[in-house]
Amino acid sequence: MKETQGLAGVTAGDTAISTVGKSGVGLTYRGYDIHDLANHSSFEAVAYLLIYGELPDAELLKNYQEKLAKLRVLPEKVTACLNSIPESANPMDVLRTGISLLGTLEPENPESFDKIVSVAPLILLTWLKKQEIKLSEKSTAVYFLKALHGSSPDPFYSRALDISLILYAEHEFNASTFAARVTASTLSDVYSCITTGIGTLRGVLHGGANEEAMKLIQRFSDIHSAEQGVKKSLSEKKLIMGFGHRVYTKEDPRSAVVKELARKLADKTQQQNLFLIAEKIEQIMWTEKKLFPNLDFYSALVYHCMGIPTELFTPMFVISRVTGWLAHVREQRAHNKLIRPLANYIGPQPRSLPMQTT
Ligand code: COA
Repeated sequence: MKETQGLAGVTAGDTAISTVGKSGVGLTYRGYDIHDLANHSSFEAVAYLLIYGELPDAELLKNYQEKLAKLRVLPEKVTACLNSIPESANPMDVLRTGISLLGTLEPENPESFDKIVSVAPLILLTWLKKQEIKLSEKSTAVYFLKALHGSSPDPFYSRALDISLILYAEHEFNASTFAARVTASTLSDVYSCITTGIGTLRGVLHGGANEEAMKLIQRFSDIHSAEQGVKKSLSEKKLIMGFGHRVYTKEDPRSAVVKELARKLADKTQQQNLFLIAEKIEQIMWTEKKLFPNLDFYSALVYHCMGIPTELFTPMFVISRVTGWLAHVREQRAHNKLIRPLANYIGPQPRSLPMQTT
């Protein structure tokens, strides 16, 4: 049983959407290397690539961005519901609830896939700001930062966010995507698939790791306390969030990209100390455990430096990853077979009921 714990190393199906860690390294979306996409593409182009199979040409991209901007409206009942959710709520629960409620008011129809990509940031921002948000920005990154901060973002910030959304968009059979595919395999509706994905991403071993990584970095005042603190945690067998990976064995190919963004943003915002602390944690994790940072570790610093509150980090992941989930829902439906594995039974052998005493 040990070998299949957590389905580690098990190939659970076919996909034409992405490759993760072939020979221990690398990430491709539909055959394109993640670095090429991060350098030369946009989040919306990548969303289209993932969901519809090919990169859009300039006109198709423009139409797709316009469509997303047009669909970015919520029924009044969703807005009212979001306004009634307390500030203290976990924003992942807000997203899950918003998507779920939308599914009751606008049951799945041909536009639902694009609608979900379009409204994910709006659901979060409506709840956060407790006001109607009417912005027509075509770039999701610009839209998000403008709505969050109330002014047009520095282009370096919006491009950094755009790159981060590209990197977070898809990752093969990770836990939330696999969960969404299980839901899709029962021929359930798309809203159920996406709420499944959100609920699964919420945990700290998956999407929740970026928030925990930020809390860790902020716990230390300098590199010396970081070194001591991380070594102490390791000696107590505690997990250091934002490190390690189930599939990659040498490095997470996305990490160097976000690390560079984090370095530049920390410089720009005079938060070099946080970057140095993060780098020290990276160094200790490598020398002590041979563990490397995954995407979540430096993404946390990127988001922090652009003024995104920590409790929104995992929801940022959702805003991007809905595209991967939707791509997998389409793929699962196109070649569907109910996902229903077997369990290795380890309970009591067959036995008789105890004698009735009354
Ligand atoms: N901090 C400290 N130790 C870690 C670690 C981390 N982040 N990640 C793995 N390890 C250790 C484990 O404790 C285990 O040690 P052991 O052999 O002494 O028991 C060993 O490395 C193997 O880890 P394991 O839990 O079997 O790997 P996994 O493939 O099941 O887990 C993760 C993968 C991602 C869940 C795991 O690395 C982790 O929990 N990371 C932190 C959460 C995180 O960043 N999640 C985002 C993933 S993209």
